[in-house]
Amino acid sequence: MDLLKKNNIETGFSEFSDSDIFEFEETCGAHHYERVKLVVRHAIGCWLYDENGKKYLDCLAAYSAANPGHHHPDLIKAITNALEGKFASVLSNVVYTDPLGVFLSKMAEFAPQLGPRFGNKGNKVLPKNGGVESVETAIKTMRYYGYKQKGIKDGKQEIIVFNNNFHGRTISVVSFSSSEKSKQGFGPLTPGFISVEYGDIFAVKKAINKNTCGILVEPMQGEGGMIVPPEGFLKGLRVLADDNDLLLICDEIQVGLGRTGKKFCFEHENIVPDGIILGKALSGGIIPLSVFITNAEIMDMVFSKGSDGSTFGGYPLACVAGVAALEIIEKEDLVKRAAEKGKILKEKIEKIASKSPHVKEVRGKGLFIGIEVKKGNAMEFCQKLAGLGVVANDSHGHTIRISPPLIINDQEIDFLVKQLEKVLA
Ligand SMILES: Cc1ncc(COP(=O)(O)O)c(C=O)c1O
Repeated sequence: MDLLKKNNIETGFSEFSDSDIFEFEETCGAHHYERVKLVVRHAIGCWLYDENGKKYLDCLAAYSAANPGHHHPDLIKAITNALEGKFASVLSNVVYTDPLGVFLSKMAEFAPQLGPRFGNKGNKVLPKNGGVESVETAIKTMRYYGYKQKGIKDGKQEIIVFNNNFHGRTISVVSFSSSEKSKQGFGPLTPGFISVEYGDIFAVKKAINKNTCGILVEPMQGEGGMIVPPEGFLKGLRVLADDNDLLLICDEIQVGLGRTGKKFCFEHENIVPDGIILGKALSGGIIPLSVFITNAEIMDMVFSKGSDGSTFGGYPLACVAGVAALEIIEKEDLVKRAAEKGKILKEKIEKIASKSPHVKEVRGKGLFIGIEVKKGNAMEFCQKLAGLGVVANDSHGHTIRISPPLIINDQEIDFLVKQLEKVLA
């Protein structure tokens, strides 16, 4: 197969037709995703382009991975420089590389002092690839803390998680998912997780016992239906964690890095967790890169030589992209932009909703907006939107998820609002 017949931004990667691509997926791919029938040939900024050059506004942004927009020029430059400068390839982790060093120091300072009760000697960062790997790092950290610091018998540690959570797809992580589909038949599952109602601080309090070592929470739930917890919930978790000597870890993979109009979503309640997990947009959506960040004291307590690792975790090319992506957030003030554009967009959507027979509720913060529909058939509205040049998907079946790249401009917002008006009228 001559796959690389064409390779430019007009035509995309190959000369195969859309129906060839569907066929390849059907016969050679695992069928683990429900897809919209659209082959995207290239993507620039907020827009996706098909074979005929028809463009679609990307209102999903790869679940927040494409926050700076697709193929941001600064990212392309940084990655191209790294490849051409021959400092991009993966090296054995026995040597130091300057991209990793620079990335770690930038990342550690990008977050506030985490877990301040453990001291103010800064944060430390452990890099991985996909987001779920860093969720696993966080789980290890909470468990080890319970064992070492609290004297919980190894194997008895318990972590409190929340109903309808989404933290990824490894065996341990699906073990505490509320979705039967994601775990049925994949047993034996990993024990040690207690799931309680999201937003119910009394349920958390009740679940704490002598073996509890940590709380893992999404400061807003993305896959769970674009849920904003009741005000005071995160503050309540912080108090419970302090009172009971638990590590409070926020999974900011989908809602961090500006998405909700704050640098980190936990800032909406002015709390500081003991650790955070970041992924997706961390490398600007081009290369998988995730991190677990915590107080230096905790990181040093939990991880020693040989206790963790990853061939590609923190490899030079990903770190170059990571540094460039963090700089884009700062340079383009994407946090403020998400807050401002999100406010405008949400107000416009609320106006449509007030006249729509279909909408039950509009919720969200920044550019993280959910439109819950009355009949729970959000995907039907998303299919209609695709026909009108907007790519969106459902969250939890009942909610249309609107989370475009954070660089979305006023004209693009107007285009989106017009199309939403048509499908929700
Ligand atoms: C909150 C949250 N945590 C974890 C993950 C898993 O990340 P990844 O798919 O990169 O493993 C996701 C992915 O959607 C997520 O939204």
